[in-house]
Amino acid sequence: MRLTVLGGGGFRVPLVHRALLDDAQDPDSTGRRTELVLHDTDPGRLAAISAVLAEQADRRPGPAPAVRTTTDLDEALAGTDFVFSAIRVGGLAGRVRDEQLPLAEGLLGQETVGAGGVLYGLRTVPVATHIAERVAALAPQAWVINFTNPAGMVTEAMSRVLGDRVIGICDSPVGLCRRAARAVGADPDRADYDYVGLNHLGWLRRIVVDGTDRMPALLDDAAALESFEEGKLFGAEWLRALGALPNEYLHYYYHHREALGAIREADATRGEFLARQQEGFYAKLAGGAGTGGAFQAWDATRREREETYMAESREASGGWQRDSCDLDGGGYDRVALALMRAIARNERTTLILNVRNRHAVPGIDADAVVEVPCLVDAGGARPLATGPVAPDQLGLMLQLKAVERSTIEAAADNSPRAALRALALHPLVDSVHAARRVLEAAAHR
Ligand code: G6P
Ligand code: MN
Repeated sequence: MRLTVLGGGGFRVPLVHRALLDDAQDPDSTGRRTELVLHDTDPGRLAAISAVLAEQADRRPGPAPAVRTTTDLDEALAGTDFVFSAIRVGGLAGRVRDEQLPLAEGLLGQETVGAGGVLYGLRTVPVATHIAERVAALAPQAWVINFTNPAGMVTEAMSRVLGDRVIGICDSPVGLCRRAARAVGADPDRADYDYVGLNHLGWLRRIVVDGTDRMPALLDDAAALESFEEGKLFGAEWLRALGALPNEYLHYYYHHREALGAIREADATRGEFLARQQEGFYAKLAGGAGTGGAFQAWDATRREREETYMAESREASGGWQRDSCDLDGGGYDRVALALMRAIARNERTTLILNVRNRHAVPGIDADAVVEVPCLVDAGGARPLATGPVAPDQLGLMLQLKAVERSTIEAAADNSPRAALRALALHPLVDSVHAARRVLEAAAHR
């Protein structure tokens, strides 16, 4: 079986490789028989990451996937079985501008939420659509697992070409679910989760263990509630008032003022921090030859990145530290592998994924990509009916879906009107005039 990773020189690729190595321990695993094809537009990054993977494989006994690298998209895609798309169009420099242009207008500057997310989407959708078209031409049977952000709108754009053959993933819902299950003393693998939303805009409504919903008891227990990341982030009082556990990205909505304040006060945006950090890592490994210690250099950088994740949000909500349980969310690499296994081996399982709604969420149209629990097997991922959604949640979902679709339209038709609509309709953009100025600044960058 062949797995093609687009964005194969990306910093998180060793996590996917590690998950394949873990999987390869199992005699009839997917990892054991996998050929890994890494595609990237930057040969230097490909060389650096290949060196990390080679050392990673050396450190492990047993079989490892064969690795091949290429900068040619068609060559990477031809005849492949699975495509992981994890690209960052415009690189981290693009992310920094997506953060800074809105901040200059007093608006939230964030990778996927608010004006920054719209700017990122405008740049990414055309590239993602082109990839979808090449997959349709060269590997029509392949499954595309999309983690390219903004994952909801990018998956929806790709689904217009690939239908249900593209499935979007994110690590934040599974992380929330597992942390909440542990907080009620349950085995995270034995609970059922009632989660509904769009990517980076969802709510965990029930945690069902042995037929009983443990959410009411969790909401009653302030100590348990504030023992894990989302509980600390939102605080027991608000979670009780809301009656559900929001995805960590809802922090930018529910605590918009504090989140914006913390980002403005920080010495650097998240993108600037990562750019500096990763520049160091890639520079160290430039050229690819003689890269002994590549894995250690990568691993040290990875730890630092994880520890600083959502640091401004933590600062804005009381300055608490992440602990090891908060870091163990299941990881996007493991979500990707679980999805690939379920499809390749027809092992039926339930995962929270981004797929077309069909009739799962009432009030949302059938073609809209939503993030909900799905039943996965060799036939792909089918969304499970969620039942009615509270008006405040449905309202936000509909509003954000309109923003996503305007962004897709703007990117597809090169339409300035649609771009203005996308930006100005975002609930975290408080002025049409500011939206227009952000677009003008983005056009001149
Ligand atoms: C989580 C989200 C991703 C997002 C990432 C940002 O993993 O699910 O969608 O890209 O955080 O992390 P970073 O370390 O790049 O700020
Ligand atoms: Mn995500």
